[in-house]
Amino acid sequence: MTARRLDGRELASRIEVDLAGRVAGFVRSAGRPPRLVVVLVGDVAASASYVKSKAAAAGRVGIDAEVIPVSASVTTAQLVNLVAAIGRDEQGPADGILVQLPLPDQVNAVAVLDAVPPAQDVDGFHPENAGLLSQGRPRFIPCTAAGVQRMLIDAEIETAGRHAVIVGRSDIVGKPLALLLAGRGPGGDATVTLCHSRSGDLATWTRQADILVAAVGRPRLITADMVKPGAVVIDVGINRIEEQGRSRLVGDVDHDAVADVAGALSPVPGGVGPLTVAMLLENTLQAALARKSR
Ligand code: GUN
Repeated sequence: MTARRLDGRELASRIEVDLAGRVAGFVRSAGRPPRLVVVLVGDVAASASYVKSKAAAAGRVGIDAEVIPVSASVTTAQLVNLVAAIGRDEQGPADGILVQLPLPDQVNAVAVLDAVPPAQDVDGFHPENAGLLSQGRPRFIPCTAAGVQRMLIDAEIETAGRHAVIVGRSDIVGKPLALLLAGRGPGGDATVTLCHSRSGDLATWTRQADILVAAVGRPRLITADMVKPGAVVIDVGINRIEEQGRSRLVGDVDHDAVADVAGALSPVPGGVGPLTVAMLLENTLQAALARKSR
């Protein structure tokens, strides 16, 4: 079997076309573009690259994105104060605020994320937004989890009554995605198993999946023998590895081998990554519209 390719880049560009029209409508009625403020701490190459993609995509749809670089030696208190000041619009209207993760070890990341006002929390990481999602009345859905669900819906992959197995229990992806897939409605109504480092023999679980999502950050963890023939496999991992003297990006799925077994498979790069960015833009427009109507 050669798996159907779930092309996130193509879907993200369709979402951008739709968003550009809606952003233009916002600009006409509000007299200013929606504005996203991104806080980038330190000089982690991967984070800088993700932030660059986010700002570029914002520009393409007419959202004004400002990146605020912060020294890697920043303290928790300094970062909390900065985020709170951005939240009070002291640096211009901030419809959406995003603090790029990971943060340096000396910073209490929970304290910083808690300082993002929930109405501007376009990452959906604030406990108020996480709580609303868990109750099935989401405000901002974490972007990668939202992107995976959007990919399934767009590809017309049935989730209702199917068994979704998620590998990875992070607050950013695994946990919110489990809630989305188990929730009611389109892209939901699945039976969900959430696997993690203490799950024991992973393959026992993954082989039962109709829909398998890998979100652990372990290069090529999911091998062909761990996948049920015909399953839908979504690869959330973005891992940079050195191979044959070259640096390359690979997912959490052993792509070429799994493509022979799976019914559908998302590539890395060009799969979930572009959708994470597209969902961030959607959340930012949603935040700007909600603020305008307050
Ligand atoms: N680092 C990796 N993924 C994400 C994300 O979705 N949001 C933020 N803020 N940082 C990340």
